[in-house]
Order: sequence, then structure tokens, then C-alpha cells
Amino acid sequence: MTIIIAVSNQKGGVAKTTSCFSLGACLAERGWHTLVVDFDPQGHLSLAAGYDPDELESSVVDLLLADRSQVNPQALILPTAMANLDLMPADLRLATIEQTLTERESYEFALWRGFQSLAPPQRGEGGPAQSHYDAILIDCPPSLGKLAILALTAAQWALIPVQCEYFASRGLLRLLDVIDAVRQRTNAAIDYLIFATLFDVRNAISRRVLEELQEHFAGHLLQTVIRLDTRLRESPMAGEPVIQYAPRTRASQEYRALAQELVERLQVKEQIQ
Ligand SMILES: Nc1ncnc2c1ncn2[C@@H]1O[C@H](COP(=O)(O)OP(=O)(O)O)[C@@H](O)[C@H]1O
Ligand SMILES: [Mg+2]
Repeated sequence: MTIIIAVSNQKGGVAKTTSCFSLGACLAERGWHTLVVDFDPQGHLSLAAGYDPDELESSVVDLLLADRSQVNPQALILPTAMANLDLMPADLRLATIEQTLTERESYEFALWRGFQSLAPPQRGEGGPAQSHYDAILIDCPPSLGKLAILALTAAQWALIPVQCEYFASRGLLRLLDVIDAVRQRTNAAIDYLIFATLFDVRNAISRRVLEELQEHFAGHLLQTVIRLDTRLRESPMAGEPVIQYAPRTRASQEYRALAQELVERLQVKEQIQ
């Protein structure tokens, strides 16, 4: 089964893209065949993986617009600097696609349907083997608009990076309301996990926010905290995930620990079901 995770937070600059790419790389390093999907019109994930969205001929937009029969999803997938880690890029059309999509019936499922077409063919059906992923990570846009709903509808998990700053928990409550609405309308199976990032050990506010998260969201909070590390600002310019750019840096160790914890949580859930 493919585990689909939407890295979401309606606030910009909270490390969604960084976490999506870094965690995707950590899963790939563990041998998971992993796809990261750029679902933000700004195309930052594509850029971080070394691709210029302005120069791409196809992207996740084509997956959303196409009928299953029209599109070869493999044509929308690009390799990254890491083995086992692929990218489905975004392009600027993603910014204006909402209108076109909402004219269609059950548009909320457009990304989910697209992911179905990535599945390998049924046994006995023949045809060339298609790509199969253990995990798909979606880098969501900084909004709670229709694209976010599409991503949350396609995912089993929302993974929420929370920046250790004031007002972070206010935004979090709004996001959890939206996840609740998605659970009721289009995706009964969605669950969520939270982790703290951009944590500054010297900053009292950072510590306070972390304590609040521990107090109010204990069951959903991953223990690993991602601290400030400038290597995370540099690695996108190199077009590489941090664990490749600076394998031994603190950020790499922390993202590896976060991936380990995430995998454990996913497996516990699978055993329960
Ligand atoms: N732990 C960290 N330490 C230092 N800088 C970080 C860290 N995580 C992310 N950043 C930087 O913060 C900025 C915002 O991160 P980004 O992943 O683009 O956020 P979002 O996708 O939520 O808008 C980027 O410049 C990124 O390099
Ligand atoms: Mg981003």
C-alpha cells in the first residue's frame, strides 16, 4: 500500500517544503520508493530539487486535468539527486487551476484519482510495469483553499509542521477544523500528526510553544524537534536534500530521527487496522 502524506499548514515559511523534501529523502534513504509532489504554485519544492518550474513542459497540473486514459503519469515524474526519490513538479498553472477544477464533478478527488493512476496494473492485466511508491509526500500550498482540500482528500495523513512562534497554535486550530471537515465530507480515513520546527533553544517563546503543543496535542505530537540550522537554507540552492548536501549536520540527524518516528507511527496504525 502507498502511504500518502500531505505536509500542510496554511502559513507560509513554516518549513513545509523543507520538511517534505527532507523527509522524502530520509524515507528514500531507508529504501522506500518515494515520490514528493509539488502542490504549491510557487514551485519551491521543484526548485529545491533542481528544476525550474518555468521550464517544465508538464507537471502535477496535467495529472489533475487529465482523464486517466489521456495521461501517462510516468511522463510527469522526474528523478532527483537521490536514488529512490522522485519528484512530481508544479508549474504556474497551478495558481489558476481551481476555477477549472471546480466546474468538474467531485473535483475534490482529482488528486486522489491521479494517484490511483500511478498504481501498478492488476496482476494478469499485462502491460509494462508501472511505477509503484511506498510513500507519496505532498507539499501543500500556504492556504486553506481548494488545493489544500484536494491534498487532504488524497492523503491518509496530514503532517503539520508547527513553527515555534507566537500564534502558531491559533493557526493550528483552524487547520484542524478543516481536517475535520475533510474527514466528514471526502476522506473519513484522514488522521494527523504534528511536529515542532524552526525551534530556537535560546528563545523562551520557542520553548513555550513547544510546551503548549506537548500539553494540548500529546497524542498527535511527534517527539522529534527540528531546530534552526542554516544548512537547511543552503541545501535548496544546491538542488539537494539536506541529508545529501550535509549528511552529518544536526538537521540531517533530526530529520532522520523524525522519519524514524513517523515510520513507527505509520506502522502502529497499520497494525491496528
Ligand atoms: N530548521 C530550519 N532552520 C533554518 N531554516 C529553516 C529551517 N527549516 C526551514 N528553513 C528555511 O525557512 C524558510 C521557509 O521554509 P519553507 O520550507 O520554504 O517553508 P514553507 O514551505 O512552509 O513556506 C526557507 O528559507 C527554509 O530554507
Ligand atoms: Mg513551501
